[in-house]
Amino acid sequence: MRKNVYLCTYFFYMCGIVGYIGKQEAYPVLIKGLHRLEYRGYDSSGVALIDKQKELSVYKAKGRVSDLEEFCKSKAISGTLGIAHTRWATHGEPNNVNAHPHYSQSENLALIHNGIIENYAVLKEGLIREGYTFQSETDTEVLIQLIEYVKISNRVDLCTAIQLALKQVVGAYAIAVIENGNPDLLIAARKSSPLVVGIGDAEFFIASDASPIVEYTKQVIYLEDEEIAIIQRNEPPKIVNLNNVEQTPQISQLELSLNALEKGGYPHFMLKEIFEQPRTLKDCMRGRINVENNNVTLSGIIDNKEKFLNAKRILILACGTSWHAGLIGEYLFEELCRIPVEVEYSSEFRYRKPIIYPDDIVIAISQSGETADTLAAIEQAKAAGAFVYGICNVVGSSIPRNTHSGSYTHVGPEIGVASTKAFTAQVLVLIMMALNIAKEKKTISQEQYERTLTELVQIPPKIEMILKQNEKIEDLSKIFTYAHNFIYMGRGYSYPVAMEGALKLKEISYIHAEGYPAAEMKHGPIALIDQEMPVVVIATHNTTYDKTISNIQEIKARSGRILAIVNKYDQKVKDMADYTIEIPETEECLDPLLSIIPLQLLSYHIAVKKGRDVDMPRNLAKSVTVE
Ligand code: M6R
Repeated sequence: MRKNVYLCTYFFYMCGIVGYIGKQEAYPVLIKGLHRLEYRGYDSSGVALIDKQKELSVYKAKGRVSDLEEFCKSKAISGTLGIAHTRWATHGEPNNVNAHPHYSQSENLALIHNGIIENYAVLKEGLIREGYTFQSETDTEVLIQLIEYVKISNRVDLCTAIQLALKQVVGAYAIAVIENGNPDLLIAARKSSPLVVGIGDAEFFIASDASPIVEYTKQVIYLEDEEIAIIQRNEPPKIVNLNNVEQTPQISQLELSLNALEKGGYPHFMLKEIFEQPRTLKDCMRGRINVENNNVTLSGIIDNKEKFLNAKRILILACGTSWHAGLIGEYLFEELCRIPVEVEYSSEFRYRKPIIYPDDIVIAISQSGETADTLAAIEQAKAAGAFVYGICNVVGSSIPRNTHSGSYTHVGPEIGVASTKAFTAQVLVLIMMALNIAKEKKTISQEQYERTLTELVQIPPKIEMILKQNEKIEDLSKIFTYAHNFIYMGRGYSYPVAMEGALKLKEISYIHAEGYPAAEMKHGPIALIDQEMPVVVIATHNTTYDKTISNIQEIKARSGRILAIVNKYDQKVKDMADYTIEIPETEECLDPLLSIIPLQLLSYHIAVKKGRDVDMPRNLAKSVTVE
């Protein structure tokens, strides 16, 4: 085994990185930071520290951060400079060897990395020709070897070596490097992967987001693409670019609170986040809805009014749950604003030579603001001259910084990997945008506008009413834990909700589930229906209510087991369904904000009953910063 690599004998894409230099012992700060970043990846983790003897050591373990802690318990770990990483594997399976930090060939340098080095194979071949050998299958090890090779062959200092090496790299990176024998220097750099520098009192932090930093300082610098932070002990960080030109960093004040990062008495973050929704939706409306004047305004819309009024088309780009919110946006903008809408998966859009017009409005939706496919799709839309509007949750993340304008959802950190409160806030922002544009375009009657607004402010208390049925939904979940498959169906605004309900169930319970437009069932999927198949139907009062009733009858006739989401006093559906969950009535275009709540709770309870790791389901990570 190589010197000072302590591998835990267990086994690890998107990752979280954290680094510390200062007066405290680095290890506890790094471990706490890794726990906060664990939502970004949790296949394996590791730390590297430089001790009093100025010696560099690396400790790695397959599994969760707690496995690393367990492994490190018996080790005499010390040092006030360190870097740490929690991994979601992209190159090489999750194991100790592939875990970060990675050493350079001489073991003088250690590096952590979030992102992908796309030309790693070519770089690796060149290094092998120069006599370099590789322990892991990762692209990251190639980068640290390259830095060392450049440093030695050009006889330059570490920072210059990093600059020269990064100029050869194609891909995305947020990295931090430390050097054996140098306990006073931490260097970090980024391109297309997020990196924040925290400025404390004679101590400095680097991290993938502010969550590991907020406990120690509220002052941060968000590094820009191709910037390098040179952090010398007891000196303010110096920011330079790849050409060594010094940059003037902007110091931002964090608004994040520590409480928002804790479970607050709930067994899981997901349950806490489901229960937070009455408050998060009020936060999202704050300053945007004026009840006295019956008015909704979003500054991003008002500042770009002409663009929205003249838009011939809206393109919505997103992934996963955010894409489902986008589908609801399609119904909203077409119904209320009479603007044609196309909703695209960012990953498909970017590779299919899309037609983008300069008078298109592109709306990019992302909770994390870091989704690689959405970021790339945004660049493509910008290059074609379109105006790009972001709907994001994480303040200061890459998407808000790379779009022309936008709106934050303001729901605070969402930590459970399954998105819940971010989804309802994305839908709420789309509703407020559609109302704002429709009013300006005069495509909505004053009466409908006011009625919708009045109903909108009633959504938080109505969600409270649904949440009161948590125990009932928990009881219902027991009936369904046996199921291997689920179908969710809905029409109109309820169709994207059906898809979102199915995604929630899949990702946290590992039960296969499909979301379908109810009328499409008879074109194929109805063949799946038998007495074993639970069918969740969103059957609230809307324009297609009677049609949905017919679709329920079709399922009933084939012995499917129906769990219906119904409005109160709906005896008709209650008589047909095997089980029902009641939700209050509202305006049709607002219904998704209510109908998704019981589906979130249902998936949560089924997953808990099945003993799943609800907040960190297998194979997933919160923020998909690789394509
Ligand atoms: O951060 P983003 O909203 O861009 O993330 C998009 C998807 O990765 C995300 O919604 C994912 O589908 C969630 N796990 C859904 O719960």
